[in-house]
Parts: sequence; C-alpha cells; structure tokens
Amino acid sequence: MTMVSDLFAAAQKAFGKAYAPYSKFCVGAAILGDDGKIYNGCNVENVSYPCGTCAEAGAIAAMIAGGSKSISEILILADSRELIKPCGACLQRIAEFAGNDTLIHLANLTGVQQTLKLSDLMPLAFAAQELSR
Ligand code: THU
Repeated sequence: MTMVSDLFAAAQKAFGKAYAPYSKFCVGAAILGDDGKIYNGCNVENVSYPCGTCAEAGAIAAMIAGGSKSISEILILADSRELIKPCGACLQRIAEFAGNDTLIHLANLTGVQQTLKLSDLMPLAFAAQELSR
C-alpha cells in the first residue's frame, strides 16, 4: 500500500533534480495516480522566465504519459520557511484530474506539515460544465 512517506520520498527525489537557476527555489511534486503508481516532477525554469514550468505540471505530465487518468493524492515539497502551496495555475492543473476531496500534502524538507483538500485551496475552480451554453 502506498503511504504518504512514499509520496514524500518521490517528491524529494524530484526536488533534488529541480532546475531552478534563476529563482534558486527548488520544488518537487509527487502524485499517487488512480493506477496506484507514483509519478513525480520538478520545476524546470528557463532563461525566458515565463517558459518555466512548475513541479506539479511536470508530475501531471508524467502521470498522463504513464497512463493514469486521475490524481488520488498529491504532495508538494519545497525548502521554504513558509509552507509552499500550489500556485493558482497549478491548482487549475490539479483540478483537471482531481476532485474536491483529493488530498494535497504540503511539505518542507522535514516532512509533510499540512494536508488539505483541493476544495480548501480552490473552492470554485473553473470546470468543464461551464463550457456548455
Ligand atoms: N513553483 C513550483 O514549481 N510550484 C509551485 O506550486 C509554486 C512555484 C516554482 C516555479 C518557479 O520555478 C519557482 O517555484 C519560483 O516561483
């Protein structure tokens, strides 16, 4: 059975590979997919700053390429005094593949410090049904 500690270890691994020469702020993310597998990702910055991608985006891309269809849990890890939270764009990315009750674990290098539901962080996500007229 997958434990939060497995997600933490996977996020730690990705964190160690983050490419963040501009912000110097490394981030690792790990997803437990609905297939029971763990997918991770890190932030990848670019000299053209807006081209950089967040750790969550990398982990989601790995999850989809790996064949999983949805996020059961996600953990985000950074070495910050203030606990990291997914940025607004990443909340929207997570919402595409998660539900209101999907757990989001927030971690620093010591371990998981807080666990929230997606609806706590993004109560009113833009959703597919809003596309219908
Ligand atoms: N970053 C993430 O990877 N995930 C987040 O949820 C917040 C921010 C990255 C983007 C950028 O490379 C660095 O952290 C500083 O913003």
